[in-house]
This record gives sequence, structure tokens and C-alpha cells, in this order.
Amino acid sequence: MSVNSNCSVSRRELLRAGTGLAVASAMLWPRLSLAAAASDYEIAPGPGRAFLKGEQGQSTSVWAYNTRIPGPEVRIRQGQPVRIVVENRLEEDTTVHWHGIRLPNAMDGVPGLTQPPIKPGERFVYKFTPPDAGTFWYHPHANSLQQLGRGLAGALIIEEPEPVHVDRDVLWVLADWRLDSDGKIAPGFGNPMEAAMSGRVGNSVTLNGSVPEDQSVRAGERVRLRLINVSLARIMALRFEGHTPVIVAVDGQPCDPHEPKGGRLLLGPAMRLDLVIDMQGESGKRYAVIDDFYDGLAYELTNLAYASQSPLRKNPLNAPLRLPRNPLPVPDLPNAERHEMVLQGGMPSMRDMMGGGKMQGMSRMSGGMAGHGPAIWSINGTSMTGDGHDAEIPPLITLKQGRSHFITMRNETAWWHPMHLHGFSFRVINRNGAPVPHNQWADTVLLAPKDTVDIAFVADNPGDWMLHCHVTDHQTAGLMTVIRVA
Ligand code: C2O
Ligand code: CU
Ligand code: CU
Repeated sequence: MSVNSNCSVSRRELLRAGTGLAVASAMLWPRLSLAAAASDYEIAPGPGRAFLKGEQGQSTSVWAYNTRIPGPEVRIRQGQPVRIVVENRLEEDTTVHWHGIRLPNAMDGVPGLTQPPIKPGERFVYKFTPPDAGTFWYHPHANSLQQLGRGLAGALIIEEPEPVHVDRDVLWVLADWRLDSDGKIAPGFGNPMEAAMSGRVGNSVTLNGSVPEDQSVRAGERVRLRLINVSLARIMALRFEGHTPVIVAVDGQPCDPHEPKGGRLLLGPAMRLDLVIDMQGESGKRYAVIDDFYDGLAYELTNLAYASQSPLRKNPLNAPLRLPRNPLPVPDLPNAERHEMVLQGGMPSMRDMMGGGKMQGMSRMSGGMAGHGPAIWSINGTSMTGDGHDAEIPPLITLKQGRSHFITMRNETAWWHPMHLHGFSFRVINRNGAPVPHNQWADTVLLAPKDTVDIAFVADNPGDWMLHCHVTDHQTAGLMTVIRVA
């Protein structure tokens, strides 16, 4: 794995992208590369092609950053300023959102709220200095269903100043696609029926942009594995047969190292997990990695394939697993201001229907509808739809800047929601009344049907920030709002 953060790497990466699959884009490359300065990244969303059905299959036309699926890996150092030039080569407006990064509001990439959209052919320069090390990602925040669903996503890795003691640092960008029988991206984005249920869950999952092949490992090695779920809607629950991964960070933020409950790693859309895995399997053997989130739909994501080589070491590495802390302000819980957010809408569950329930919240939505498309979901009775373009809805709440805030999120729906807040990482305090162990921070917290989760954070970053479900169909159909910090 490259552990480089210098400019030559990003330049080279960019140039390599130019020799990629799409001839048309390759011809556009030289112009863009010449403009690159030291420590710059240049990222151009536009058309591309990818082998989503395997190298022998037909290639699929996708939307991609620098023609690659996933987009170029942006790797920078904690506390090091970065400048990223985005040139829009799509035929529609776009923006780039740096998911999970605590950055100035104007750099957050929400069209209509934090910046004007980047028009086709135009550029926008993002500049920020990431305060936290960890695993993050970037994606568009315009026409999100299609732009994300057609492939626009990339990893954003912020490196610790002192590298952590592992043998390899490995990244798996996991993406879900709905392909038709010819291998094309199936139409029908934004189907309201789907939006009222689990969202557009696809039928093929890629790992780093291709059909997952065996992942070669060596007995005895210690691997840091960064998982990013960039799916529109697919929730994953991964199990590593014969292995005991240790979670060392959630959404980029270090936690107390711990083994997941029941050996299952839950990963909703936009969520990340950093794992440390000691490869204690047998040389020459294969061990399956299984995703069994959806009942009756378990599948083998990939395999850890051990080389026949002798083990790298006999006993697992005896180095600490804990990652260095990030400079997060710690909320003052006893003095925190309290707020509540109630998530409603969607299709009722069978049980709710038997009990005579209807689509709760629907009747109260008319007052606060804005944006495009149907309002199927709501937060505190208000539905903001689309991507946040229409800031006609006043902020749901205004948080006093500098104070600690404690938010209770109540999921009254029958569906799962990875709830995401821009601009902050929050402590996940309680789930259904029970304290959440292992000192977990997150920017996206997964609520099971009927879950209640308490989060807390210091509102130290002024601006208007999105809060929304990261199941994109839910987001664009109303499960979204704006929080003002002032
Ligand atoms: Cu990944 Cu509005 O965010
Ligand atoms: Cu975000
Ligand atoms: Cu949702």
C-alpha cells in the first residue's frame, strides 16, 4: 500500500488516470494535469467505463471521478492543508462533499446551502486542513441518487503523523450497483415505492471498483483494513470466517479497540470501519468474508486467500492496537442543551398495520414540504427533499455555538436509517437507553427500526449543516434537514 502524501504521487495518479479506459477523457487530460501545483489534487467528475461484471464481461458506462471507479484516493496528512480543484465534466451541476471532515462550512459542498452548484465545464477549488486522522470519503451532493448511484465516490484518507504499527494498510471501497441483464446501470432511480422502503438496493457489489477477487494475505501479518460503504442504500453485515477483526475506529474516529458483537461488522451507507486483523489462518487456505445483513440474501463478498509462504511471524504482533486520539472537543453532558429528532414516514411494517397504524407523520408534512420529488419521510414533521438545494425550509434547530448539545433521535419508522450530520463528529452516547460502549464517535449512526439513539457534540463549527439519512432515496424523499450553528 502506498503511504505517501506528497504531491508527486497525486500527480502521477492523475496522469495514470489519463491513460485509463475512456479515450475521450484521456484526450482531455493533459490540459488539466499541467495546471497542477504541488500538494494539489485535481478531480474531474465525468463519464467513465468500468468492468462491473468482471474483466471478461462488457464494460459498463458509469459516472466517475477522473474516469476511475472508485475515484482517486486522496491521501493527506492530518493538519496539512490541501487544495482540491474540481472540474465538472458531467452534463449537469455537481459539487463535492468531503464526508466526515470537520471543515469550514463554505467547503462542505452542499449546493444552494454552502456554495453555488458547479456548472458543467466549471471549476471549484476546495481548500481545507483536516483536523482529524482517519478514513473518510468524498461524493457529490447534487442529484445524489444518480450521481452516487452511477459511481461518483472516492476515498479520503487522513494519515496519522506517526504511522500505526501494522504490516499493511488496506482499503476496501465497497459499492453496490443495480445492473440490468446487459450489465448496464438499471434505470428507475427515485422509485417512490422503493424510497418508502429500503431504498435502491442493487444486485452486485464491487470492491475497489471491480468484482471482488480473492484478497491475498500472508499468515502472521497484521493488516489495517479500512472499510468504506459507498452504496446508495445497501447495508452490510460482514463476517470474517476464522478471524477476529478488532474495530479500532468508527467513521474515522478512534474508539477503544474491540471485537464486534457476534463477529458481525455493521456498515450502513456512508459508514466506515477501521479494523486490525491478525492473519492467523493457515498458509494456503481460503477464508470467506460473508455479508449476511438481509435475511435469506447472504453472499460471499470475497475470500482471504493465504499465500503458501511460511508465516511472517509465529505469534500475533505485540504492538498496541489503539489509534492516537483526534483533537475532538468533548461534550459537557451535564450542561448540554437537549434536543429531539423524530424520524417518521415510509411504509409501515406488518406489525404496525395490524395495530392499525398508518404512515405516521405523513399528514403533518404539508406544512414543510420543499424541493423536488415526493415527501415520504420527515424529521420532526418536516420534509426537505432533493439535495438541500432549496434552503426554503428554515433550519430545524439553531444550536448555540460553542455549547454542548445532546440530541435524541427517535426512529419511529419500520426501516433502518444511517443518520449523518455534516461538519461534526459526535459521541454516540446511548442506544435504546443503554450506554454505547468503547467510546464511540461517528458522523453517521445507524438506527434500526424503532431505535432511539442519543448523540452529543460541541457545536464549535458555525454554519448551516445538513443532517440526513444516507440511504439516498430516504434523503431525497424527506429524511433530511438543516441545523444551524450560530
Ligand atoms: Cu455523505 Cu450529506 O453526505
Ligand atoms: Cu457528510
Ligand atoms: Cu433512511
